[in-house]
Amino acid sequence: MDRTASTLPDDSVVTELPRPLPSAPVVVSVCVNCKSSDGAVVGPAMLEAVTAALDERDVAVMVRPVQCLSVCKRPTTVAVTSQDGYTFLFGDLLPDTGSDAVASFVQSYQASDYGLVPWRERADVLRKGMVARVPPLRWSPEDGRAPK
Ligand code: FES
Repeated sequence: MDRTASTLPDDSVVTELPRPLPSAPVVVSVCVNCKSSDGAVVGPAMLEAVTAALDERDVAVMVRPVQCLSVCKRPTTVAVTSQDGYTFLFGDLLPDTGSDAVASFVQSYQASDYGLVPWRERADVLRKGMVARVPPLRWSPEDGRAPK
């Protein structure tokens, strides 16, 4: 199937289909209850750092604190999602090294089909800290493939 051209009912031809970019808003969820191994609560610092890094890059995104992402043994944890894009979940992030990586990832997410950020565009801390990658909800329930 030619995925770059289609014919409309009036026989006009569309040469390029719109790219399936994630629709706004992209949501970044930061766990504010994550604790370091010595018991210090580190989640709020991560939330502040991620918010600042996104502001610095002028990225339009919704950032929200969440109570737990069920990855408590790998603090701090952050999820990136959108209504029709992939959901990514990361752990082992530190405010000073993870926040800019998350901001950069969100920029790539917004520019990638279904938010599927290419591996080469992911910072090392995110490659190592990857916990989960969940396909968009509207993908085929039969085999998990992209919609046609
Ligand atoms: S307390 Fe942060 S993931 Fe559970």
